[in-house]
Amino acid sequence: MNSNVTIFDHPLITHKISLLRDEKTSSKEFRELVEEVAMLMAYEVFRDLPLKEIEVKTPLTVAKTKVLACQDVAVVPILRAGLGMTNGILALFPTAKVGHIGLYRDHETLEPKEYYCKLPEDIANRKVILLDPMLATGGSAIAAVNFLKQKNCKDIKFMCMIAAPEGIEAFTKAHPDIPVYCASKDEKLNEIGYIVPGLGDAGDRIFGTK
Ligand code: PRP
Ligand code: URA
Repeated sequence: MNSNVTIFDHPLITHKISLLRDEKTSSKEFRELVEEVAMLMAYEVFRDLPLKEIEVKTPLTVAKTKVLACQDVAVVPILRAGLGMTNGILALFPTAKVGHIGLYRDHETLEPKEYYCKLPEDIANRKVILLDPMLATGGSAIAAVNFLKQKNCKDIKFMCMIAAPEGIEAFTKAHPDIPVYCASKDEKLNEIGYIVPGLGDAGDRIFGTK
């Protein structure tokens, strides 16, 4: 396994991913779970944020302590399904700016098609967390990172929930420099590009469109 790929094995994350897979889980519960898993994953994704020393007056004394030295984060969901993860990250990092990249997979070719892109003006100077719950063929995430690199982003991490081995391989081949964080590595892609066992169509389940 590429050392730039982290597959989580935390019991809370595994439990919530199992609930997400269940076809009986409603859209409301699904949305809540996606947000919660994103928040739990963020704990690890932000582990290397730099700190700076400060002094704080407690009721007893002055404490030498530390706070975040950098607030320059941009969260970039891939539309639509990445939107479901966004609030989970913003709950932990409320000062982050949010960019959007709109991509959908052509159902015949599975190629990603761009339909929207709006990023913070200073995106090149930010730590970018790219979000999409599903890494299937890898086409969408690869295209999104291509956009971000064209905008001169130098510090990008990609967070997904369920990844197919095929997607991980394609993504790490295209972008070996980008760390990938993933809650579960599944078995395979099926013949129409869905992750097996997966959780179905993440966008449709989040937004109740099917
Ligand atoms: C899904 C998913 C990813 C993409 C993954 O989006 O949210 O963006 O497929 O597949 P890939 O790795 O093969 O590119 P979809 O195209 O269904 O669009 P949606 O989020 O608008 O439903
Ligand atoms: N996109 C999804 O939403 N689900 C899959 O299984 C594959 C791509």
